[in-house]
Amino acid sequence: MKNVLVIHGPNLNMLGQREPETYGSDTLADINERLVTSGKSQSLAVTCLQSNSEAELVTRVQACAQDGTDFVIINPAAFTHSSIVLRDALLAVAMPFIEVHLSNVHARESFRQHSYFSDKAVGVICGLGAQGYELALQAAAKQLN
Ligand code: DQA
Repeated sequence: MKNVLVIHGPNLNMLGQREPETYGSDTLADINERLVTSGKSQSLAVTCLQSNSEAELVTRVQACAQDGTDFVIINPAAFTHSSIVLRDALLAVAMPFIEVHLSNVHARESFRQHSYFSDKAVGVICGLGAQGYELALQAAAKQLN
């Protein structure tokens, strides 16, 4: 079994109620449950973490160096557009990652069109809603198995 860590950034704990026309009606629990289930069928142990705290996310990413994490799927949410520190943490542990966004950030405000992660990501998926996480997991399985 390979280990995949799915990281959700700030405000994603509010999925389901948060701007459903932009982010869809699935809750974060719905999304995580599906990822854990589909992970099993692809021989992947999926662990999910959401935090509103940049420090907590950085500390969790640093722990990947020792805890057997093989791959990260990350929706950094608003940290996408601001967090050099989270980018540096992923690079520090040399963790391959796929960046996911529920919405098509390129069709939104100009400040959402720059990502501190995309140039280092294995791939980027955006605009496909919760399905984007499933597709990222399939891609992770292909990379790992
Ligand atoms: C998001 C897009 C970001 O711009 C935004 O700040 C989010 C969610 C997305 O999944 O579409 O919180 O990452």
